[in-house]
Amino acid sequence: TKDGYAHYMLKEIHEQPTAVANTIADRLYNDKISKYFIDQATAAILEQVENIHIIACGTSFHAGMVARYWLEAITQIPTQVEIASEYRYRKPVVPKNTLFLTISQSGETADSLAALRFAKTAGYLSTFAVCNVANSSLDRETDVCFLTHAGPEIGVASTKALTTQLAVLALLTLKLAEIKNVDEAIRSNLAKQLRTLPGIINQSLLLNDQIKVIAEQIVRRDNALFLGRGVHYPVALEGALKLKEISYIHAEGYPAGELKHGPLALVDEKMPVIAVCPNDELLEKLESNIEEVRARGGELYVFVDHKSQHGLKDRVNHLIEMEASGTFTSPIVFNVPLQLLSYHVAVLRGTDVDQPRNLAKSVTVE
Ligand code: F6R
Repeated sequence: TKDGYAHYMLKEIHEQPTAVANTIADRLYNDKISKYFIDQATAAILEQVENIHIIACGTSFHAGMVARYWLEAITQIPTQVEIASEYRYRKPVVPKNTLFLTISQSGETADSLAALRFAKTAGYLSTFAVCNVANSSLDRETDVCFLTHAGPEIGVASTKALTTQLAVLALLTLKLAEIKNVDEAIRSNLAKQLRTLPGIINQSLLLNDQIKVIAEQIVRRDNALFLGRGVHYPVALEGALKLKEISYIHAEGYPAGELKHGPLALVDEKMPVIAVCPNDELLEKLESNIEEVRARGGELYVFVDHKSQHGLKDRVNHLIEMEASGTFTSPIVFNVPLQLLSYHVAVLRGTDVDQPRNLAKSVTVE
């Protein structure tokens, strides 16, 4: 049931604090990865990992993109991310001791399963998966499966599946950081961020009314651009996917540094530009990209936190201030207001939010 919410999607957006808390639960203990996260045999595999290949589709692919930023920055393990339907039809090179990792909410996505079946013959160290459905084909066929405990996701647009996938991928990054002897102080800081994540997501849900006001402006437009940098670039891609999927507004996500290589030509006073702008080491770069948009009259909607708002508040009309979450978990948290934004735009447009045209929840054919 929808528990009094108008749509499953809205219910599932609001379930995220609990879903993420359930997914982390006893996998984290005293700011360390607990023994309940992986068994010794799995840890022994992780000790040998020299490369990681992540394969997924759609929103799950975006989770994989975030994980690559984390894995390379924190553990220095070379990591690639690829769309399953591309990966399965090329001839990928598999270096020795490479881990194959699939991400899928349903565990039944045809292209992701085909990629896994190929991987099993391709000389990988092992196959791991992040999946929300126990006993799905993916769960049964992969060597190791980390379940997200999001509960059933009914809305076609993925919301709590994404944030729980990211929580598991963050735990995996932390485990690999431990294996790679990353400095203890760094690791416990990351673990602390994960521990406070459900509360921060909860705070971001309180922005609902503010986001509704923005939705009323965006609903009149036919296009939208989403911008982010670094680990927040995949968040921009995900924001654009969500908007096009349920409101049918044409939206594109771009790494902000690419603006002047083409998309800036689209910017005029009718182009909403939505930027994900937390306080991280790329803030100044992103600020100058935002200035480029402003100079062309683009309609800016910028998601900031308490620290990153300073440089922007006099220059941007629509600033939405998020609770600061720490740089590790912010690519999880910043998805939430973008989900709410798409939701409200779609509701205002009168589209079928839970069951968008032409789409199926589980893509079991290629
Ligand atoms: C977007 C969405 C899709 C799925 C994709 C993969 O909101 O839901 O892009 O993420 O079809 O599905 P799973 O994760 O089940 O493999």
